[in-house]
Amino acid sequence: KILILDFGSQVTQLIARRVREAHVYCELHPYDMPIEDIRAFAPTGIILSGGPNSVYESDYQANPALLTLGVPVLGICYGMQWMAHALGGRVDAGHVREFGYAEVHTVSSRLFNGLEDKTLPNGEHVLEVWMSHGDKVSQLPAGFTVIGSNPSCPIAAMADEHRHFYGVQFHPEVTHTRKGREMLHRFVLDICGAQPSWTMPNYIDEAVRKIREQVGEEEVILGLSGGVDSSVAAALIHRAIGDQLTCVFVDHGLLRLNEAEMVMEMFARNLGVKVVHVDASADFMQKLAGETDPEKKRKIIGAEFVEVFQRESGKLTNAKWLAQGTIYPDVIESAGAKTKKAHTIKSHHNVGGLPEDMNLKLLEPLRELFKDEVRELGVALGLPHDMVYRHPFPGPGLGVRILGEVKQTYADLLRQADAIFIEELRNTKDEQGVSWYDKTSQAFAVFLPVKSVGVMGDGRTYDYVVALRAVVTSDFMTAHWAELPYSLLGRASNRIINEVKGINRVVYDVSGKPPATIEWE
Ligand code: XMP
Repeated sequence: KILILDFGSQVTQLIARRVREAHVYCELHPYDMPIEDIRAFAPTGIILSGGPNSVYESDYQANPALLTLGVPVLGICYGMQWMAHALGGRVDAGHVREFGYAEVHTVSSRLFNGLEDKTLPNGEHVLEVWMSHGDKVSQLPAGFTVIGSNPSCPIAAMADEHRHFYGVQFHPEVTHTRKGREMLHRFVLDICGAQPSWTMPNYIDEAVRKIREQVGEEEVILGLSGGVDSSVAAALIHRAIGDQLTCVFVDHGLLRLNEAEMVMEMFARNLGVKVVHVDASADFMQKLAGETDPEKKRKIIGAEFVEVFQRESGKLTNAKWLAQGTIYPDVIESAGAKTKKAHTIKSHHNVGGLPEDMNLKLLEPLRELFKDEVRELGVALGLPHDMVYRHPFPGPGLGVRILGEVKQTYADLLRQADAIFIEELRNTKDEQGVSWYDKTSQAFAVFLPVKSVGVMGDGRTYDYVVALRAVVTSDFMTAHWAELPYSLLGRASNRIINEVKGINRVVYDVSGKPPATIEWE
């Protein structure tokens, strides 16, 4: 297993993802992880992340004793500078910030051999990389040689192949560094010799054993939302403890078309999971009546959800555990949230956000997993591919996709329009046979409570508008609107206007995030 020490870079999580993609288990910890804990973790290799600071000025110092453990170390950007500094080299403040694409000339090393992007006529190898730094290493520590350089950064990569220490000034974890993934895999598999045994089918047995050990004979409640994380958590826990698990599925009436039936079909009938289906749509509609403010709507839905969930789970008096589908990025994010202050753009609500005062112990069997791994695990547990690879759906559901006041009639119209759009996305494939549903990260319809004039047959219509939204993104922090084929948009629009009585106009949203957000509210 690999230990990643985080010095605060925006992209540290990507290092962990790349390592896991090599099927090697890794964990991400703060840069100041105590040396005893590092020893106890017993890593086969250590990766030091980048970070926004300068080695001479900051408190961002790891314990140099980690360089005496006899395991390979790879320093990235700040991580390289810290290593150089700790081993007696020198780091200089760069006067020009180098940011973006760069070419690095390499010499033979275990880290780079065979990975060059091009070879110059004089036989020199070149890597195409992504740089983002001010400071740089200006003098090598004893025992190191330069293995990569370019004019603005003469020591762009360094190595002490004897001790298996490597440093790169660029970022191999981002996709702009074309061979970055291979480099990280080379480091963990070849240089560290880590075993690629971290696969989801292998993981099931261990996860099941852990859950049984943790829970014993006690009973567990889980809030099932139909989303990927809670579904996979439910399937995994059910595999481990069967009927000791009860799921509570709160239908707030703002789900997609047939979603409640699908969830019940899948879990209650196919898998034999005990599911309490609470149809609370009337309560939610009543609480939302008259409210048009987006933040207030979010708060109402979140609060009502907690109330209904607590009421229903309170009836399960034997339960001692509350299971949640918390995944690794949530864990890292909430650990990081203590230091990072962000503006609240939207107050998020999801099934995971339940109050702590429920007097239940927390069971979070997906805490170590990234989203891709959760999906793989779901498939390995026998959940249908379509469910596991579904686009994300926000906790407040259609409540944030019906602009302004939420009404039952609006929700019904929107559900139909949305289902048609999704069906067209699933049925339209590109030349490689990949559907537009899979080519986009999230797609949905939005209900606009404005009326416009149209003509249908011989008659005049005066009906509502639906906006279609489809985005492409890797992290949902920024997003591009999807360049869907006109023919697909045309078919979706025709069908919605013809099949959904009450909608006579369809528009496509061509706003990026930022400045727009993905959801409209
Ligand atoms: P925005 O609209 O902020 O959305 O660009 C980014 C991603 O977050 C989802 N989203 C939510 N997910 N509870 C959730 O579980 C929420 O309250 C919520 N609001 C937005 C949104 O669908 C998109 O994937």
